[in-house]
Amino acid sequence: MSETLAPTLADTASAPDLASRPHALPRVQHAQPYSSRSIRSFVLRQGHMSPAQRRHLDEMMPRIGLPYRPAPLELDAAFGRDAPKILEIGFGMGETTARIAAARPDIDYLGIEVHSPGVGALCKLIEEGGLANLRIIQHDAVEVLRDMIGDGALAGVHIFFPDPWRKARHHKRRLIQPDFIELVARKLAPGAYLHCATDWENYAEWMLGALSASSLENTASGFAPRPPYRPLTKFENRGLRLGHGVWDLIFKRKPPVAHKELS
Ligand SMILES: C[S@@+](CC[C@H](N)C(=O)[O-])C[C@H]1O[C@@H](n2cnc3c(N)ncnc32)[C@H](O)[C@@H]1O
Repeated sequence: MSETLAPTLADTASAPDLASRPHALPRVQHAQPYSSRSIRSFVLRQGHMSPAQRRHLDEMMPRIGLPYRPAPLELDAAFGRDAPKILEIGFGMGETTARIAAARPDIDYLGIEVHSPGVGALCKLIEEGGLANLRIIQHDAVEVLRDMIGDGALAGVHIFFPDPWRKARHHKRRLIQPDFIELVARKLAPGAYLHCATDWENYAEWMLGALSASSLENTASGFAPRPPYRPLTKFENRGLRLGHGVWDLIFKRKPPVAHKELS
């Protein structure tokens, strides 16, 4: 059974509190139901793969990769132990994923990414770091969540710097949508968390609006301070030096309501 891993957060966030400005909240469109979705949050590009990424992907994925199947996945069996499970969507090149997994060997991490060079890059980091607590699924994370992950199975979900889909006509491709949030919420154990981070202010506002309107509960008033477990990336560091913002959002699944005894 997963334990609660959400960090304790101070109520004050350094970023502007957009929740107190309801007019600033975005109008979030409902995405297509996931059973018949054709709008996806990614575009599969060929992309350049280095020989090392290719070699690591080919050698490691048969060992640490889990194939997508439209059937429930036994998470404890996949990791070979009973430990809290955290799922990350869109790990990119996997640097953050590997650093987080290395810092917490007591927790199991399931990284999901569609892009092969990134999968190869994370495989390399897993081998170099001897990380036994990381598994990868190379597939659309929405379908993985929907088809493979049991309700209440996760201690946390990480979504760091999802594609912002900047143009208004592309906003429907944003991963964070009301239906998607409720899908994630179902997969979280009571008290477990969803942690999103973005450096695109319009997406930050969009996320805050959608998450605040969802069944999940904000752990902060507005945006959350970056918790110590999320390392600063080189890219983020450079952005912060240039005065760009980064917004973290950490929402928890509410614990079940205790039933009153009938007298
Ligand atoms: C902007 S990148 C961010 C990568 C990384 N999290 C970081 O902080 O550097 C977003 C990543 O999410 C992946 N992605 C987007 N939608 C996805 C989905 N539905 N399933 C799996 N991966 C997805 C993309 O392929 C891309 O690598």
